[in-house]
Amino acid sequence: MDIDVPLRELGAIDSTALRDAILGQESSAWNEDESRQESFYMHEKTRSIVLLSMDHDNWPDFEVSQGPGWKRIADVALPVMRKIIKKHYPVGGEVVRAIAARLVAGENIKPHSDVHQCFHCGHRIHVPITTNPKVWFTIDGRPYQFKVGEAYEINNQKQHSVVNKGAEDRITFIFDYYPPGPLAYAANQEKERPESRQDTNPKFRKLLGKERNYLLLRSNFDVEAIKNKVEHIPDARWLESEREQHFNTHRDTQSLVLINFFRSKHTKPDYRELYFEFENEIKSVVDCIAEYYQNNGFLVRMLLAKLPAGSQIANHTDSGDVLLNCHRVHIPIITNDKVVFAVGGEEKNMQVGELWEIDNELVHSVENHGDEDRIHLIIDWVPNYTGRPEENVLASFGQDTLSAI
Ligand SMILES: [Fe+2]
Ligand SMILES: [Fe+2]
Repeated sequence: MDIDVPLRELGAIDSTALRDAILGQESSAWNEDESRQESFYMHEKTRSIVLLSMDHDNWPDFEVSQGPGWKRIADVALPVMRKIIKKHYPVGGEVVRAIAARLVAGENIKPHSDVHQCFHCGHRIHVPITTNPKVWFTIDGRPYQFKVGEAYEINNQKQHSVVNKGAEDRITFIFDYYPPGPLAYAANQEKERPESRQDTNPKFRKLLGKERNYLLLRSNFDVEAIKNKVEHIPDARWLESEREQHFNTHRDTQSLVLINFFRSKHTKPDYRELYFEFENEIKSVVDCIAEYYQNNGFLVRMLLAKLPAGSQIANHTDSGDVLLNCHRVHIPIITNDKVVFAVGGEEKNMQVGELWEIDNELVHSVENHGDEDRIHLIIDWVPNYTGRPEENVLASFGQDTLSAI
């Protein structure tokens, strides 16, 4: 939840029994539930013991279930959580997540913010179990060191990261508490954009503010030349694709990148060999997009994304300043009538010849129930209302890491 400040100190808490219980777990307990590191790219260097987890696939409906650590640790975790809640929050709400999280010595959790709406609604509380002088927690650009015997609420809506340069693993107990009453997000249906985005591109609105989930830029657009060229890409080349290796959500997809941009890696968009191979075929589509956005901006990412027959991209939201500050345009190249795109709860079967901007900040997913692979050209266009050079605009975005694109 956004608590206005990066960190709230909740004061001393007797966590001795909880600490003893967590440290007394068999080492195998840390590998029983790998869903966190599998679902969240930035948590790949963590291990966890799950007491309570939340299934939010049908958000805003959700289900809380007990994990393997519940039976062994709940008796000592509950008094700690109850004491903290009673002292600092309205009682009568619900703890929706509780885990012990271990960050391996020498590893880090890359900068990110917790984007899914379920993270906006809860207080995220940390009770340090072990730490060392080389562990730093950074929230909204400010570094903190947590102490054992204290508790903290972190602002998970601000960018945060952790480094453990010490020789020992760092362990923290984390729980998310939803106070009673309507969910914080549900109470505020209007989408709010973080201030940082207002600073970087003040007039930016997804879909130009014209629509909520999808915006049709063009129909009857001729993509035959792109299709012919795509059909000649050998299977072996698709197998070398990369996005699915970085993003768990996209593990069933194959993507070939024409232009790439990661704020942490590049200072300007990286035009790959494939872009130049397709330059003639994609020129008209790029011109069309540039014209729609009033020739005011630039390309930042372009890829061909294949979703094989029978596969899906599960519900997710995109994150990171660049992805949230661009117009994301989908251009179906090969598709079928059994492909279902869902954005913000609205389903659509995009047709070849159409150009669609989607609001990738909202929960979205794709299912291909057809017999044929689906291939989209995806283009990210960053508008530039500031008149500054491209590189300055890109440099003003936060050091994002992407949990999904
Ligand atoms: Fe986080
Ligand atoms: Fe996405």
